[in-house]
Amino acid sequence: MPKRASRTSDAAPINIGFLGFGTVGAGAFQTLCDNLPSITLKVGRPLAVKSVAVRNWNQPRYANAPLCTAQRAKDAWAVVEDPEIDIVVECMGGVEPAAELVLQALRNHKNVVTANKELIARRGREILEEADKQGVDIQFEAAVAGGIPIIRALKESLAGNRIQRMIGIVNGTTNYILTQMTERGCEFTTALAEAQAKGYAEKDPTADVEGHDAAYKLSILASIAFESRVDVEQVHREGIAGLTLADIEYARQLGYVVKLLAIGEETPAGLLLRVHPTYLHHSHPLTSVSGAFNAIWVQGSSVGKVMFYGQGAGSLPTGSAVVGDIIDIARNIRHKATGRLPCTCFSNKTILDVNETVTKFYLRMEVADRPGVLGRIATILGNEGVSVASVLQSNASGEEAEIVWVTHEVQEVKLRRALEQVQALDAVKCIRTCLRVED
Ligand SMILES: NC(=O)c1ccc[n+]([C@@H]2O[C@H](COP(=O)([O-])OP(=O)(O)OC[C@H]3O[C@@H](n4cnc5c(N)ncnc54)[C@H](OP(=O)(O)O)[C@@H]3O)[C@@H](O)[C@H]2O)c1
Repeated sequence: MPKRASRTSDAAPINIGFLGFGTVGAGAFQTLCDNLPSITLKVGRPLAVKSVAVRNWNQPRYANAPLCTAQRAKDAWAVVEDPEIDIVVECMGGVEPAAELVLQALRNHKNVVTANKELIARRGREILEEADKQGVDIQFEAAVAGGIPIIRALKESLAGNRIQRMIGIVNGTTNYILTQMTERGCEFTTALAEAQAKGYAEKDPTADVEGHDAAYKLSILASIAFESRVDVEQVHREGIAGLTLADIEYARQLGYVVKLLAIGEETPAGLLLRVHPTYLHHSHPLTSVSGAFNAIWVQGSSVGKVMFYGQGAGSLPTGSAVVGDIIDIARNIRHKATGRLPCTCFSNKTILDVNETVTKFYLRMEVADRPGVLGRIATILGNEGVSVASVLQSNASGEEAEIVWVTHEVQEVKLRRALEQVQALDAVKCIRTCLRVED
């Protein structure tokens, strides 16, 4: 029988140890301290932060750290090996040494809360299996969409549903950039520089702008929603760096808004998982999600369509999610019920190639301004089974013209075959943009 993490007396505090005291750690600590009396009543036992580890306490960021009675731990291992700690809160980031620390904490029969999406997306299987083996809890609400309680909703409130489709705006940085491009007509580079100045984007924005961050989050959400393990490499990923104001303006003219979406759906043949900039029809509720906000739209077999909206990052919103996990675990400790909600990846579903996607497309191409070019392209599209819903020709200079197409739904592989032939035409200078369309 696995040992339970808790000591049994209802009067003894449940001890918490923090690994990391940066944006998330400090926000969780503040949330916990500010609301401790009511949290104690909700749990039915006192909670106490026993110790906190960072890499280097001699930094200006820790000069006024309000640690109250918590000790400054020698290092992260001292927290993980402390026999008095019941819950380890990992908010340091990165895969190593976070993975080794979390695994050792679990082996030491401690429950773990983490905000680390990369850790769960890359090492989730091993970590969840270890927690299951030890009969302890591992919770990671803050790892996806910060303050939005989407993981608990999928695991508990919506557990009676078969999740059919899920569409998320799960990266605040890219949503901020696209909002500035749409609402203020900023170029991508200007909007990115602004996002960096406001602290929404990192100095190296690759993880956000190229869609890696959203892919981590989709792999976690899809694993839970579709009850089947999804590795992050199985998520098709495209970023927003290639988008121009022309694509944003055509979207407006055609009744769409450009968003970086993380889309997961279950089809009879398997799961389709993709992160890419998308033409989203203006009537979709996700188009109203602007700035650095996040939202996840979910379609379940019984509940129908539901949407979760809120702040996807930031110290206190993320702290709110971390503390929600701490409270849930503390209740489980009190009732000797840790490990009650183990990994729910019961099946091993096929993950389909993005070429299997059936969707509408927006295409923008630069062509020679000559008679017959549009017709030749339309013929190729038609021969490959791509039916055209609308076409716009503009910017004709006498030498060059721009043609914008929106197709009807078509299997992606057919569209790609057609585009190879279109690109090979002498009269086609380039296919500037090809985006999927969601209604
Ligand atoms: N920021 C957000 O809004 C947000 C939202 C959702 C999820 N997350 C996730 O939460 C995690 C933390 O992000 P953050 O923004 O809070 O990062 P952060 O501000 O950089 O803080 C990281 C903290 O971890 C400590 N740390 C790093 N390596 C350590 C080690 N080996 N041993 C001990 N302490 C160590 C750092 O100490 P030093 O300062 O001494 O280096 C610092 O206190 C990441 O996984 C991130 O993806 C962040």
